[in-house]
Formats: sequence, structure tokens, C-alpha cells
Amino acid sequence: MSAAVLDRARAAGRADERVIRAAHPLAYPALRSLRAPVLRVPGLGVVVRDATLLRGVLMDSERFTKTGPGSPSDLWTPVLGPSVLLNMEGADHAALRRRLAPLFTPATVDGLVRDGLATPLAALTARLRSGKPVDVVAEATRNASTMIAQLVGLPADHVDESLFRRVSGITSVVRLTRPRLTPAQVASARQVLAELTDHARAAYRAGDESTVPGRMRALDLGEDEAMGAVGAFVLTGTETLVSYVPRLVALLIDSGWFDRLRAEPDRLDTAIAEGLRVTTPSPVMLRSAVAEARVGTVRVRAGDRVILATFAADAALGPFDPERNPAASLKQLWFGAGAHFCLGAPLALAQVRATTSAILDAGPARIVRREAARRVLIPSYRSLVVRAA
Ligand code: HEM
Repeated sequence: MSAAVLDRARAAGRADERVIRAAHPLAYPALRSLRAPVLRVPGLGVVVRDATLLRGVLMDSERFTKTGPGSPSDLWTPVLGPSVLLNMEGADHAALRRRLAPLFTPATVDGLVRDGLATPLAALTARLRSGKPVDVVAEATRNASTMIAQLVGLPADHVDESLFRRVSGITSVVRLTRPRLTPAQVASARQVLAELTDHARAAYRAGDESTVPGRMRALDLGEDEAMGAVGAFVLTGTETLVSYVPRLVALLIDSGWFDRLRAEPDRLDTAIAEGLRVTTPSPVMLRSAVAEARVGTVRVRAGDRVILATFAADAALGPFDPERNPAASLKQLWFGAGAHFCLGAPLALAQVRATTSAILDAGPARIVRREAARRVLIPSYRSLVVRAA
């Protein structure tokens, strides 16, 4: 990499870091400043930042679970109910994943993206070509909502921008130092999700197996559990994409890779993986230790909370570089690993690919305005306006 290219890649990384700091002005610099690969931090838990150790914890679901104290089940079970994958372990978890997996095969998600997004993405390309500004955050919000609506059997116009804001209002109250929601927060989260599930209930009752609720009914899962899955998909599948698509577009333009990809479109998948490494839209994962164990040099006791700081796992790998592709060494750690590896990853990748291609197809672009979202759980732009250069 030439010095000029390296400078631009570093500047692009710093611009993305400002997005993370806006979301987590205190926790991010504090966790970033830790140097040890694993460390017990009083009041927080055992923080793991080394990629190999982090993967080791994710692969060991006998000793590190998502169901013990301080784990995601503490947060989400009161809101979503007990059976929504991300708060399950063992045979029940594996069985539910097996049944839901056909909804996320590459062929199925490519079809979903084609059916749901072909028209809006063609309009996006045309708008950029005609010289009009486009807010990539608004585009990503609408596209992610359309996809989720298709998947869970909601009418597309039901999952709109205002609903997205209310859903991110649910997650924005979550902090590492606050591992549970208050009763008032649980009540308001349940109310937002109840609005969504009104329609999903109809899909469940109709037994439409092309939707998550219909498939869960075929699985003999109760109506409430199926509604929990709807909530889980909305919570996990919208904010991550609304975070990632604009951050990737910004990284590409800031680093100069936007023009290069237009000339070398075969590198798009590598650029998407590199962007995921640098931005890590799901920056932290949580586990609860159920038995005594050792993580690197630190002894972990049953009941300890383990904070897997994925965002810091690539610290030694340098700035955004789809040519050298250091992301390959992390084997998609940004989607997790082991039993809980992101079920929606093929859908996420298909959407990112389609949206980024639609913007690239319009020709050279520049960023005319950007604003980072403040104090949200998933670091994101609040708006990122681009225009033909
Ligand atoms: C760039 C976008 C995305 C990223 C970075 C991402 C990241 C992750 C990560 C890191 C996990 C594992 C968490 C853990 O082990 O604690 C996960 C799980 C999950 N993701 Fe994603 N995700 C994305 C998009 C999506 C989408 C679009 C959907 C589907 C609609 C989705 C559905 C899920 C589900 C259901 C799980 C729970 C799986 C289980 O516990 O078995 N994700 N995701």
C-alpha cells in the first residue's frame, strides 16, 4: 500500500471511530485502552479482546452460555419470552435453528432481496444519477425494514421509519454497566413489539410456512414463542444493517476504495468483509460462565459475566485494506462463532451487496453531509448524505 493510500485508509478508520465514540463516549475509549488480551474489570466482568481467546469462549457453550446471570437472557427474556434463539442453549436451541435455517439459505435470501429491493434500489441508482442527494441511512432503514417485514409476514408499510426509531429506542437503554432493563423499560419494549406482532399473529394462525411465525407453528411452538422470534429478528436484523450499510459506504468513499471497486467489482465481497472487520456492527457479545474455567491467563468463576469485545479483536490488523484482506484471518468473527453464529448472515450479506452495488452503479460519489447517532447501542450514522461526484 502506498503512503497516500495508507493515509486515506487511516483517515477512513478515524471517521468510523467517531461514529463509535458518539454512541459510547465513555465505554468505548475505556475498553479500547485496555491492553491485555483478557482482563477482569471490577463492576463489568471478564473482558476478552484477543480473537483466538474470544473464539474459544464462543465455541465452548458448555461453560459459557447465553442463559446465565449477566448474559443476553437477562436482558431479552423479559421482553421476548424464553425461546428466541439468542437466549437458548443446548438441544432446544439446535432444534429451533435447524427448523429456521431454510429461511436463510443463500438461494432464499437472494430471492427475498430481489423481490423486495429490486425496485427501490433501481430508484436509488436513478436518483443518484440524476444528481439528487441520497441519505444512505434512510435507504438502509427502509430496505432492512422491508426485508424483515417479508420474513416475518408483516405488511411492508407497517415497519416504517418511526417504528425503527422506537425499536432502536428499546436497545438504546442497554449499557454494559446496566445488564438488565427496568420494569418500565420492559413494559415499553413489549408495547412496541406488540404492535408488530399483531400482524405476525395472522401469519402464525394462517400457518404460512414461508414466514417465521408460520414455520414456528409447524414446529408446534406456541403462539407467544413465535411472536418472540418475530421480536428477535426485528431486534437483531434491522439495527445491525442500518449501522453497517452507511458505515461501509462512508469507509469506501473516505478510503478511496469506492472508485477502485467500480473498476474492480469482483473485490466487493472482500471489501464487505473488510468493512465488517473494521466497523464490527455488533461490537460486543456477552456470555455467562457456568463452571470454573481459564480464559488465557484469567481464572473465570461460575456466575462471572464474560464480555467479548469483538470490536477490539482486530486491533493489530491495521486499517481497511481489501487488497491485503486481513479480515480473512478472523473467519467472520463479526458474525460470532459456534452454536450462535448469526443466523441472518446470508440475508445481511445479500442486502449489503445489493445496496452497495446500487450506489456503485450510479457512478463516482461524494459525502455531502454526515451525522453520527448519539448514545445508541449499535454505533451508526444518524444520516449520511451522498451525491454524484
Ligand atoms: C451486519 C449485520 C449483522 C451482524 C454484524 C450480526 C451479528 C450477529 C452476531 C455477532 C451474532 C451472535 C451473537 C452471540 O453469539 O452472542 C448474531 C446472532 C443472530 N443474528 Fe445477526 N447480525 C447481523 C444481521 C442479522 C440479520 C439481518 C438477521 C435476521 C433477520 C440476524 C439474525 C440473527 C439471529 C436470529 C441471531 C441469534 C442466533 C442464535 O442465537 O442462534 N442477524 N448476529
